[in-house]
Amino acid sequence: MNLSQEDRDMLEGKHGKAVQKSMEILTTLGEIFNAEGMITIHSVQVAGVSYANLGEAGLEFLNEMAEDGKVRVLTTLNPAGMDRENWKVLGIDEEFAKNQNRAINAFAKMGIITTCSCTPYLIGNSPHFGQHIAWAESSAVCFANSVIGARTNREGGPSALAAALTGKTPNYGYHLDQNRRGQVLVKVNVPLKGTDEFGVLGKIIGDKLVALGKVIPFIVGIPSATVEELKSFCASIATYGGVALFHMEGITPEYNNYPKPKDIEFDVNQNDMEKARTELIDDNLEIDFVSIGCPHASIHEIAILADLLKGKKVNKEFWITTARPTKKIADQAGYTKTIEDAGAKFAADTCCVVAPIKGRFKGIMVDSAKACYYGRAKNKFKVKIGTIEDCVAEAIR
Ligand code: F3S
Repeated sequence: MNLSQEDRDMLEGKHGKAVQKSMEILTTLGEIFNAEGMITIHSVQVAGVSYANLGEAGLEFLNEMAEDGKVRVLTTLNPAGMDRENWKVLGIDEEFAKNQNRAINAFAKMGIITTCSCTPYLIGNSPHFGQHIAWAESSAVCFANSVIGARTNREGGPSALAAALTGKTPNYGYHLDQNRRGQVLVKVNVPLKGTDEFGVLGKIIGDKLVALGKVIPFIVGIPSATVEELKSFCASIATYGGVALFHMEGITPEYNNYPKPKDIEFDVNQNDMEKARTELIDDNLEIDFVSIGCPHASIHEIAILADLLKGKKVNKEFWITTARPTKKIADQAGYTKTIEDAGAKFAADTCCVVAPIKGRFKGIMVDSAKACYYGRAKNKFKVKIGTIEDCVAEAIR
């Protein structure tokens, strides 16, 4: 790799131990992926925050990096294993809470903003078109590349942290024009509405791409989509298809920058939607948990929930997972009171997947195809997808 004098100084330890270790990680990655050199980045999203995943070994690595490491660019953090204020109400045990806070404190010591959210783009970590960034969290990576038109690879926890501590990342993959072209033309022939339907579409396209061995779809036939629908779609297509970038004609900013693939590889029709939806609903289901906010709920989704829950009472555990800054807006707008009066609970900083709740519930109802995947795979719940209105109806039934 062609390293600048500054890169070499970092590698030789002239900027401290954490920067040296970081540059070792980044140059190793760069060599594996044949990067020509390093590029300067504008922001970082760090994942791998839950103590359930980190364990003591991960914590030891973080503490080592925090001895002399400080972030050089705006850096935010993915959801943790618990709501940092409300963990007791959500049934998180004290030992876990103590360890989770040790991890978050190590991130904070390095200058990372400990917002703990998977939607950094909704709360101030908002890159603009064409900026190079280094983000972990597959749904946010897909949103940043596709919806914003920023450029990032799918970073892991250590490589994102290394990028934050150096302000650099190796220049390969989605940072380069030649790797951002649509590979597969997909025609959607069905009108879509709501986070659940966009999630179902993400599963259909994701599954097909895996079978085709391709990763960048060029999607036509969708006339409009809200930010919330796109965030749900990003989470789903990243989960089921490993997609970090898609183009959507008329919607995403780069769809016109590269040649459109010539032939339609596959269509998505009403029967595909119905079939995929049934695959996201388990048999013999007993729902005792409802969760909205995968990816983290926007203030608009919270406003809708407040409206749906006004004057009602929920009869099941009901979590709204969101970023703490979004929750603060909900507090000020009065949505929190309406929602909590109905018996639903905010779970800020965390979510129904990363919280240590494996086996605690029998069945979960969500509006997110990604939450269905991990609800089954990680937490061993039965799952059901539905609209946000269906989820509320289930909770108050
Ligand atoms: Fe975010 Fe958790 Fe879903 S991290 S994308 S809410 S699984």
